[in-house]
Amino acid sequence: MNNRILVTGGAGYIGSHTTIALLQAGYDVVIADNFSNSERWIPDRISTLSGHVVQCHELDLRNHAATLECLHQVRPDGVIHFGALKSVGESIANPLHYYQNNVTGTLNLLDAMQHIGCNNLVFSSSATVYGYPDRCPISEDAALHAINPYGRTKLMMEQAIEDIGTSSPGFHAAVLRYFNPAGAHDSGQLGELPRGAPNNLVPFVAQVAAGLRPEVKVFGGDYKTPDGTGIRDYIHVMDLAQAHVHALEYLRDRKQGLVVNLGTGSGYSVIEIIDAFSRASGRQIAYQITDRRPGDADACYADPSLAEKLLGWRASRGLDTICADAWRWQIHLQQN
Ligand code: UFG
Repeated sequence: MNNRILVTGGAGYIGSHTTIALLQAGYDVVIADNFSNSERWIPDRISTLSGHVVQCHELDLRNHAATLECLHQVRPDGVIHFGALKSVGESIANPLHYYQNNVTGTLNLLDAMQHIGCNNLVFSSSATVYGYPDRCPISEDAALHAINPYGRTKLMMEQAIEDIGTSSPGFHAAVLRYFNPAGAHDSGQLGELPRGAPNNLVPFVAQVAAGLRPEVKVFGGDYKTPDGTGIRDYIHVMDLAQAHVHALEYLRDRKQGLVVNLGTGSGYSVIEIIDAFSRASGRQIAYQITDRRPGDADACYADPSLAEKLLGWRASRGLDTICADAWRWQIHLQQN
């Protein structure tokens, strides 16, 4: 594999941070994004922060002909596929939209890759494929069980990718199951851009700390955890970004695929996140314990040892860095 990489969804939250890591590792990166959940200034910001020019194609993966045309033009040696929708609640309210974007879009991309003979894929999957985990920490051989349309789209695409690998021995995919990405670039100039009220905990807490929202609603105080609130594995987005660089190296050097968890191995409760964010921001963060959110598990954290063994990667930034970087980004958003 040479070094031209197409990053679908490269203007999104994880995609933009990964593009910076790729550019800094010497890859020639082309972004393809439909900007449905990202901003048009992001590619320029990536270029500024990385010190390297990034090309950008506006592309909607649901358009098969346009996807084929884009792949023919770019001729990537590998593809990292982030371009998908990711809100569980939205997927329950509008499943067709999720199947169209996450399933049809991915199948169009895989078809276009086959057309041009591009055999290296890094696929963004999610710990959501474990459903309600039967044990923690979760290793990759845990039972797979999607419990909502979003999760089903990820699981279906993992299976499609596995089938393609079986039928095309030259095709290799790194399937990366993310736990809870959080934090921001340490410059404070790039981070997550939630539209409307954030669904995820860390950006919501950041907005409460900033005085944009009155309080955090803690979804459930009676989980089977030490303080009764849900436990998750929060991983810094730049650690996650670095794992993608390692995954490309693995595909290039080993010429085989893999499926790995990307998490830290440590779980924190909702209350612990609020406390850590309060320390990082120096602000009081009001919260109220409310009803459980349907579909949430008590605890979900990774066994990250396979990623360390196969990729030689492990997360290096802890919860305090996640909160400090998310806070710096929140302040930047308010000043600009
Ligand atoms: N939570 C609150 N209040 C909020 C938001 C979240 O108490 O306002 C709690 C949740 O109940 C949960 C924890 O904070 O215990 C984390 O919730 P997030 O919504 O931030 O993250 P999830 O673990 O629910 O979801 C994440 C990804 C999904 C993915 C899922 C499973 O966002 O895409 O992990 O891997 F499907």
